Amino acid sequence: MSNRTFTMIKPDAVRAGNMGNILQMITDAGFKVVAMKYTQLTKELAGKFYEVHSERPFYGELTDFMSSGPIVAAILEKDNAVADFRTLIGATNPADAAEGTIRKKYATSVGENAVHGSDSDENAQIEGNFFFSMYERH
Ligand code: RTP
Ligand code: MG
Repeated sequence: MSNRTFTMIKPDAVRAGNMGNILQMITDAGFKVVAMKYTQLTKELAGKFYEVHSERPFYGELTDFMSSGPIVAAILEKDNAVADFRTLIGATNPADAAEGTIRKKYATSVGENAVHGSDSDENAQIEGNFFFSMYERH
């Protein structure tokens, strides 16, 4: 178990003006921000980030969506970070997300689901390295 995870506030949530509320939920849940940036993925970079899904039918839609507007990318720190953050964001499909989760509150569909959270310690590290140099971590 490591103590870091990686997140993105996705373009739908930024567009809807939910960036501040989502960051508040994250810090209220006890996560410390190690690194953070407001940026936009190109279609190519979104494709690289979600490469594991390249054979899935929704890959084109996913990479179009993830490059459709600015995002907030961040590395977060807390005990049991990966699992606790997945609990905080809720199920991929907001229809299945538990009350009080970020996706229950702010996601509108399985595709436009407001936030990303790493699914393993290994991927948390890979995804953090995708966005941040060592000089951007505090
Ligand atoms: P994420 O990686 O973004 O945190 O989401 P997740 O682990 O809950 O879900 P994952 O299976 O990794 O899927 C990645 C993202 O692809 C989009 N998706 N669309 N149309 C669909 O059936 C479908 N399935 C997945 C979602 O945006 C999902 O978050
Ligand atoms: Mg995932």
